[in-house]
Amino acid sequence: MPGNGFHDIPLGKFAVVVTHLEMRSPPPVRALDAPEGVSFRQVTPTLDWYRDIFRRVGTDWLWFGRLKLDDATLGEMLKDPARQFYTLTRDGADEALLELYFKPDGDCELAYFGLTAKLIGSGAGRYLMNQAIRLAWEKPISRLHLNTCTHDSPQALGFYERSGFTPYARQIEIDDDPRLTGLLPRDAAPRIPLLA
Ligand SMILES: CC(C)(COP(=O)(O)OP(=O)(O)OC[C@H]1O[C@@H](n2cnc3c(N)ncnc32)[C@H](O)[C@@H]1OP(=O)(O)O)[C@@H](O)C(=O)NCCC(=O)NCCS
Repeated sequence: MPGNGFHDIPLGKFAVVVTHLEMRSPPPVRALDAPEGVSFRQVTPTLDWYRDIFRRVGTDWLWFGRLKLDDATLGEMLKDPARQFYTLTRDGADEALLELYFKPDGDCELAYFGLTAKLIGSGAGRYLMNQAIRLAWEKPISRLHLNTCTHDSPQALGFYERSGFTPYARQIEIDDDPRLTGLLPRDAAPRIPLLA
């Protein structure tokens, strides 16, 4: 456990604070229609579909976890019957990623949740979360959990708390900056300075 105070992060790496949140019973959900022109559907993802939506949702927030995976590893994950994938479609294009992972121990992880810039702030996030909560608690789970980090949207933490999740743990994650390893373009998320 690092001591109190400031700690150096090597150049080329970044550090984020990760907050873990959970809910242990289904919360009250305020019913909400999908925004005009937006439809919700389950997807059987191909590698190309998944990587495309992951990048279009996540590049602004430096999501890179799944971009590290080779075809075989990601392909296995996408075929895993314990994982479900959903999106929101507008004007013929998929603009959101919702990934639920039903774990063998009875927990369900909201593994990825996000909208592209086209849908942010339209009510689509709340609509998608309502679907996530319904789909997760339709199964005999004991806990729904997720994490969010300080590179994610500043709206995310409050949004999750309003959704009925309670923060219960905090971690520091250190990793190679994905803009330097080639996983993401160098000009992604310019609000987070690149220290090389
Ligand atoms: C986090 C995220 C999903 C939040 O989505 P959002 O677009 O801000 O969410 P919404 O616009 O649906 O909701 C914001 C609030 O405004 C309300 N709202 C906004 N526009 C609305 C509209 N047109 N009609 C009704 N309600 C509306 C929502 O109901 C919601 O209120 P509530 O939380 O009290 O229910 C979104 O910012 C996002 O995808 N960010 C990028 C990826 C990311 O950081 N993901 C989280 C990683 S862990």
